[in-house]
Amino acid sequence: MGKDSLSIIDNRTDKTYELPLTNGNIRSMDLRQIKKDADDFGVMGYDPAFLNTASCQSKITYIDGDRGILRYRGYPIEELAEKCTFLEVAYLLLNGELPTAPELDAWVDLVTHHRMLHETTKAFLEGFRYDAHPMTMLISTVAALSTVYKDARNIFDLNSRRLNMVRLISKMPSMAAYAYRHSLGFPYVYPDDLLSYTENFMTMLFKMVEPKYVAHPVLARALDILFILHADHEQNCSTNVMRSVGSSQADPFVCTAAAAAALSGPLHGGANEEVLKMLDEIGTKANIPAFIDKVKTGKGKLMGFGHRVYKNYDPRARIIKWTADQVFAVTGKNPKLEIALELEKIALEDEYFVKRKLYPNVDFYSGIIYQAMGFRPEMFTVLFAIPRTVGWLAQWEELLTDPEQKIARPRQVYTGYEARTVVPIEERSQQPVAAL
Ligand code: MLT
Repeated sequence: MGKDSLSIIDNRTDKTYELPLTNGNIRSMDLRQIKKDADDFGVMGYDPAFLNTASCQSKITYIDGDRGILRYRGYPIEELAEKCTFLEVAYLLLNGELPTAPELDAWVDLVTHHRMLHETTKAFLEGFRYDAHPMTMLISTVAALSTVYKDARNIFDLNSRRLNMVRLISKMPSMAAYAYRHSLGFPYVYPDDLLSYTENFMTMLFKMVEPKYVAHPVLARALDILFILHADHEQNCSTNVMRSVGSSQADPFVCTAAAAAALSGPLHGGANEEVLKMLDEIGTKANIPAFIDKVKTGKGKLMGFGHRVYKNYDPRARIIKWTADQVFAVTGKNPKLEIALELEKIALEDEYFVKRKLYPNVDFYSGIIYQAMGFRPEMFTVLFAIPRTVGWLAQWEELLTDPEQKIARPRQVYTGYEARTVVPIEERSQQPVAAL
């Protein structure tokens, strides 16, 4: 068996360097010793968008993108979605082990009893226009809670840290429901501690004047499964932001707000909203071949297909398809499903997509289900942020307790002007500048 190291020859100096491999990888800092001369800064890894750079070691979520495998703490996502509740999976992500029955009861009790929002939250939300996007209201309200729970800054005090993690997990659905009802001009509904996590959320969203709103059990369970599927996904963009902001030792409320801001982008959590727009644009199954041609000629984009990590079928998309049948049995079919299924069938048979390893991802079917369940498209990313809060917090706590981590501060490759001096204004000539 060879040594666990790489030998690198610097052809500029004919020097050879031996770089140890840890878990099969080199440490980027070991490249720095490779210098063309004493004044040289040394070699860096240059990796826009972190295509091949690991920023941390993690024990939380494992993905094998080539084989379409996703595991939380070693458990396959399929098994967790089938056999567990969202709060059970939240306990697993945060604690590393599935809870025993008494542990689960205590955890559910804890999360249930922190759902209430400080009354000033209402006044805060009143500051938003009626047509404000619920996701932006959620981002702002999460950050604002940092001013209510000042102890959240004590991030290295375990009890305080855990209490504020529970507050965030408990209050995300409440804030989301308040933002949704504000956008519709509906009065806010207080949380009901007798209801499960998703039943309560649906009640706070949809209860009108009926004495008791009862969430349909199939829909509440489907939402629970969707929450399990979105809870964590290792070092995705928003989690990277959670870790990056967290590395400055900011409190978890503002870290979560920053992560949610990253998630709000159409390339990230906003993708399922884009899928619905695409399906609306296609309109009927008959228009699919023409749309596929547009995609192939670069004039269209097949939203909900392809993924940075998965070069195979996203396992979450398969589970969502299965859940869709349960939901549609209650809500009636969303006509967009037919178009989506046909689009998937054609794409999976078409060499153009197969060659590019483009498969449906978690966003392809989630929007269709959410819409059938009565959620408006602008709420889709909010429905992603609620469960992902658990993953963000698990990753944040792993960062805080990792002795190797420091404040995140990437290097850059400077390609601008070398040193130059200021020319008196009357002597300057017009220079072409980039249009602002
Ligand atoms: C996610 O779940 O965050 C998305 O699939 C994006 C990603 O993993 O990069």
